[in-house]
Amino acid sequence: MKKMILALDICDFQKAENFVKETSPYIDIYKVGPVLFLHAGREVIKMIKDFGKEVFLDLKFHDIPATVKRSVESAKELGVFSLTVHSVGGAEMLKAASSVENRPKIWAVTVLTSQIAMPEEVVKRAKLAKICGIDGIISSPLEISLIKKSCGKKFNVVTPGIRLTKINDDQKRVATPEIAIKEGADFIVIGRPILEAKNPIEVAKNIYERILIQ
Ligand code: C5P
Repeated sequence: MKKMILALDICDFQKAENFVKETSPYIDIYKVGPVLFLHAGREVIKMIKDFGKEVFLDLKFHDIPATVKRSVESAKELGVFSLTVHSVGGAEMLKAASSVENRPKIWAVTVLTSQIAMPEEVVKRAKLAKICGIDGIISSPLEISLIKKSCGKKFNVVTPGIRLTKINDDQKRVATPEIAIKEGADFIVIGRPILEAKNPIEVAKNIYERILIQ
């Protein structure tokens, strides 16, 4: 499976479909978060799956255990590949999420990549998620190797905060695609560097080729 995930943070179904169509040689998983899901949830998921691609549903569940468990069951019905929960929801919530049988992969958010964080805090949350039966975590590129060391190679590390050049935006803990892959990321999540590029297809192709040779 290709390692780049495109975050479809746009509220326009037609644009989303065009992005999926045009980037499909380089991407197998598309991330659908609140921006697009609230606009055209089920329709978008069907469209992505009709292209033979997978959906990463990034709605970051954080609620009482029973509600999170039911949310995971609903996401399972949608046929998504993976989804997110918040690690700050605590052990009981994480265990309730992971207890759903034949469910999508669950990745726990540790600390948002837009926030400054101590690597120890991220690793602590990753360990908790692992103990609770979660399949992996979302972390910045800066904590990947520490997490792999503490939680094992099979524990998925999925990293947003990917930037091609040094720019000033809301993401604080960032690295290039090459560094994230070299550090051991299983998947890298990229949104605006592709969505807002003059030629998004060229950028997607370029990142794909850059990480292939890592
Ligand atoms: O546009 P950009 O490349 O910053 O997109 C990153 C995506 O990853 C966004 O959709 C954002 O919501 C998501 N994300 C993140 N940091 C996390 C978890 C998810 O940036 N810890």
